[in-house]
Amino acid sequence: MMAVQRALESRRPCRERLFTDPLAASFVSRRWRLVLSVARLGVVRQAVESLYDRIGGPGPRASAIARTRFIDEALEQTAAGAEQIVILGAGFDSRAYRLNALAGRVVYEVDHPATQAFKRARLRRSASSSTVSSVRFVALDFERDDLTRAVLDAGYDVRAPGVFLWEGVTNYLTPAAVYSTLAAIRRLGCPGSALLFTYVEEAALDPDTVAFPEARQWVSAVRSRGEPWIFGLDPGSLADFLRDRRFVMVADTSTAEAGRAYFPPRGREERGSGLYHVVHASIA
Ligand SMILES: C[S@@+](CC[C@H](N)C(=O)[O-])C[C@H]1O[C@@H](n2cnc3c(N)ncnc32)[C@H](O)[C@@H]1O
Repeated sequence: MMAVQRALESRRPCRERLFTDPLAASFVSRRWRLVLSVARLGVVRQAVESLYDRIGGPGPRASAIARTRFIDEALEQTAAGAEQIVILGAGFDSRAYRLNALAGRVVYEVDHPATQAFKRARLRRSASSSTVSSVRFVALDFERDDLTRAVLDAGYDVRAPGVFLWEGVTNYLTPAAVYSTLAAIRRLGCPGSALLFTYVEEAALDPDTVAFPEARQWVSAVRSRGEPWIFGLDPGSLADFLRDRRFVMVADTSTAEAGRAYFPPRGREERGSGLYHVVHASIA
């Protein structure tokens, strides 16, 4: 669904678009590819987006689009001082293939073996899959495998500055896997290395929450797809949570805040969501 949302965004007129992801459409199902090919017509795209938002609720698509743009910018800034980028739970992230700021960097795409095998098969078929960076694939399960060992074996240099990106993943993991992944990042990254990650507010895990009206539909949609949200954080204690793990919080931005900077100037009415956050931290 991330790829569908990014592909729809990439069909917008460029003055409205938050980013262009030329690879997104290669990762979707045949049925969605058909929809996307007719969505080149503005009226069809608008109808598809509004139906998508009616079924999924107003939060997910706008939040996904805002977070993609926000992380593109954050990665462009932080990659300037880094030689290597580790994308954890890379899924259909196409930044190694489309962001010029990553040119000349080594990008480690770490993901579950099943998702990664699917992505690599689709990349082989795609015409726009040439990278701006040098990509190394690392297949593992955050719940079971040794992330430090796997990334070192793939060639990560602990003496060189790096950036770790962990987007759209923590909410699907057990607390133990979240903590062990943070510990592995801490072991791999030299001081000053940046960590960009997303989380959902723990209050949103309760379907009866009144804090976020969009939560009920969103939480039940991910659960019905067999990928329930099981981990969340409290923004009020986030700085302490990170400090306890020897990270320094630089910024915590909800996709609602990010969306306010992106949508209105482009004449768009979408909003992001207060429950979905992007964190910029650095290794102490
Ligand atoms: C919602 S997708 C996000 C993908 C990408 N980062 C993005 O934002 O588009 C979640 C990703 O987490 C990965 N993932 C979930 N649980 C995992 C686990 N236990 N081990 C490894 N990867 C996992 C999935 O394979 C998938 O690529």
